[in-house]
Amino acid sequence: MNTDRPGPLSRRTVLATGAAAGLAAAVVGPELLYADARLARTIPATGETIAAVGMGSWLTFDVGSNRHARAQRVDVVRAFFEAGGGMIDSSPMYGTSEAVIGHCLAELGRPQGLFSASKVWTISQGIGKRQMEASRKLWGIEAFDLMQIHNMLDWETHLATLKAWKAEGRIRYLGITTSHGRRHAALAKAMAAEPFDFVQFTYNVLDREAENRLLPLARDRGQAVIINRPFQRGGLFRRVRGHQLPDWAAEIGCETWAQFFLKYILANPAVTCVIPATSRVDHMKQNMSAGLGPLPDPAMRKRMQDHVEML
Ligand SMILES: NC(=O)c1ccc[n+]([C@@H]2O[C@H](COP(=O)([O-])OP(=O)(O)OC[C@H]3O[C@@H](n4cnc5c(N)ncnc54)[C@H](OP(=O)(O)O)[C@@H]3O)[C@@H](O)[C@H]2O)c1
Repeated sequence: MNTDRPGPLSRRTVLATGAAAGLAAAVVGPELLYADARLARTIPATGETIAAVGMGSWLTFDVGSNRHARAQRVDVVRAFFEAGGGMIDSSPMYGTSEAVIGHCLAELGRPQGLFSASKVWTISQGIGKRQMEASRKLWGIEAFDLMQIHNMLDWETHLATLKAWKAEGRIRYLGITTSHGRRHAALAKAMAAEPFDFVQFTYNVLDREAENRLLPLARDRGQAVIINRPFQRGGLFRRVRGHQLPDWAAEIGCETWAQFFLKYILANPAVTCVIPATSRVDHMKQNMSAGLGPLPDPAMRKRMQDHVEML
């Protein structure tokens, strides 16, 4: 028996450990990660901790001025914060999503614990500045915690602005994004050369390309990692439709496929935050619960990926 391994710690023990450390920490053993009631990860640039399950907003929050849909999204965001959520990710590319997020935050009385993350998605420095300022007003916040360059578009131009804005305190962190396997070589080059606080890309149980280069590089460079498309835009649920969770998923506390997919991602220690998107309160609760209980060890992760590939 490996005595270095944490063993079957009770939730109480893990919570006590986290409390003693003064934060909601994950207890990391050589093979097994245990999450406490709100799995938190550290942002390498500052040591600040952040809830490891965040929220995306592409499509799911682009509901325009529809009153019923807006009220329903308020409930989704309420469930997110009630479960200890922090990071909300959006972009001016997502139609009305930023306006709807701003509406939700106002309706909820500006919840404590928000970690606001949006993007600049345009060409030219002047338009980029105006776009970021417009986003800030839509969210109704004083300043973004994180501003990312969306899909690397005109990234060198915007990086100069973001560095200046960070120095002036207009944003706290700067980052860059890509998705579904696009431009990994170019992103790796940028990550190696520039002081990004955060990088965002796609990683999930079926799309593991980021393991080759981006995840190890982010660790080496001390860059926080946000994972988008954790469910392959919902494609993973379509793949497992009609299939029960395997019995052994209970060993890592999974009762739903959503937990299964998210725990797979969160067990990679280079991952800081995963941002599933949902329009439903019940789905939000499932997604947030992926931050509870044990995470899979490498052998279990291999079993998980083999199982999903087989379906
Ligand atoms: N380049 C970039 O910067 C970039 C690119 C892509 C994505 N992103 C960010 O990453 C976020 C996540 O990616 P994504 O929106 O493409 O896809 P995703 O999170 O992988 O999947 C979203 C889909 O999963 C469904 N879903 C969510 N929770 C579920 C649950 N518990 N059970 C069953 N179905 C569930 C949602 O439907 P329901 O509404 O019915 O729950 C929705 O159709 C985006 O919203 C965006 O913020 C960034």
